[in-house]
Parts: sequence; structure tokens; C-alpha cells
Amino acid sequence: MRKPLVVANWKMNPSTLAKAKKLFNSIKEGIRKVRNVEIVICPPFLYLPQLVEFLYRCRKSQLNLGAQDCFWKEKGAFTGEISPLMLKNIGCQYVIIGHSERRRHFNETDEMINKKIKAALKAKLKPIFCVGETGEEREREETSKILKSQIENGLNKISKKEIKNIVIAYEPVWAIGTGKPCDPDEAMRMSLLIRKIIAQIYSRSISEALPTLYGGSVDSKNAAKYIKEARMNGLLVGGASLSSKEFIKILKAIS
Ligand code: 13P
Repeated sequence: MRKPLVVANWKMNPSTLAKAKKLFNSIKEGIRKVRNVEIVICPPFLYLPQLVEFLYRCRKSQLNLGAQDCFWKEKGAFTGEISPLMLKNIGCQYVIIGHSERRRHFNETDEMINKKIKAALKAKLKPIFCVGETGEEREREETSKILKSQIENGLNKISKKEIKNIVIAYEPVWAIGTGKPCDPDEAMRMSLLIRKIIAQIYSRSISEALPTLYGGSVDSKNAAKYIKEARMNGLLVGGASLSSKEFIKILKAIS
């Protein structure tokens, strides 16, 4: 069985570098007893250089760093943006792309997300490509249609070779930060649907090899269900990754 991948999305937290260092170090300590899980911490951009230093000082192969977003150009006059090349250069392995909070608050479109995925792949970063329907779309029974268009457009002109470096995270918007996680049965149906869409675009073997993550109100009580029952290959954790104790519990529950 594939080693589960657990990604911590710290979002715009914590509020100081001192707190970020503390959280990172206690996670680093806590994972001593965790086996067979790959962990990726995605802090705000600003904390990355310091956390990379910590990582290198005590290199743990199961722990990696990622960013929460990137721009689609390598360099140039793009005020406020960070390029995938910069992220790779500083020591990131992964980058979250297309998170629903970016789609909603910053009007990111499938087309922009597609450009970001291509740029990340070019810089040899692994994109964690987020998809998921809103509560209204789910009520209107449009989930399949939404996932299909997000995936087809987000992966437009991405080759069979490149797709092997992508992780897809299913994050239903209605489950994010609400304390109302998706039922594992429903998450399994979504995981199968994502694989079906990928098989239609690429091939069955590619869809079977594709790592899928579940995200949305994950905690230590429900974490194992998404791996064992919903057959996801890992988790994308928001709020619960801001407490080292709870995050380690999640890791232990699935290791
Ligand atoms: P919560 O775990 O806080 O619901 O957030 C999920 C998420 O958006 C991770 O990217």
C-alpha cells in the first residue's frame, strides 16, 4: 500500500514567526514516533526560509515543506507575487494550487490554476491541485459536473508524464472550517469519480496511480476513516494542523 501523504495547510497562521517556529519544532519532535506517513507543512511564504533552516538542521526524510500558492511566471514585474522557481530554490517540494479560498477571495479561475500548475511542474515542484464543490452546487446536484470541469480545465494540456507528479485534493467547500466533514462514503464516491475523470483524460493506470487527498474539517477522530474507508491516499488538514498535539494524533491515527 502507498504511504499516506498528510499535508498541513496553515493558511494565514500563526501570527508571528516565533509561534511558527514553535509549532514546526513541536511537530518535528512529535513525528519521531510516527512511521510510514509522508508529511508536508505549508506555512505562509514569509516563514518558509526559517523553517527550511530547521528542516535541514535535523533532516527527516518523511517531512517536507510546501507553499500555499505560487504565480505562473518565473520572474518579472508582478508586484507581490512569488514564483515557483523561488519556492523550489528555497527548498519547497510541494505547492498547493487552486485552493477554494483562493478561487473565492481572489477570483482564481480554472485557467489561472492551469497556468500555475504548469509553472510549478516546470520548476519541479509537486502541485497539490484542489477541487471541490460549494454547498449550493451540491444541493443542486452539480458536484460531478463541477469536479469534471475543474479537473479538465485545471489539467488542460498537461501531459501523461507530467500528471504523475500531481496530487489531487478533494476539498468540498461546505466542509472547510465548518466542523461538518464529508461522510467517508461520499468521500469514497468522490475519489472514484476523480479517478474516472482522470482515466477518461489519461488512462486507467494513471488514474489508479494518482494520489488523492481529502480535506475539510479533518481531525484525529475522523482522519483514519478517509484512508481506510474512503480509500483516499492522504489528507489536507487546515485548522487541526495548527495544534501540534492534534496534528500528531491525526498522523498516529493513520500510520
Ligand atoms: P479545515 O481542516 O480547517 O476544514 O481546512 C481544510 C482546508 O481548507 C485545507 O486546505
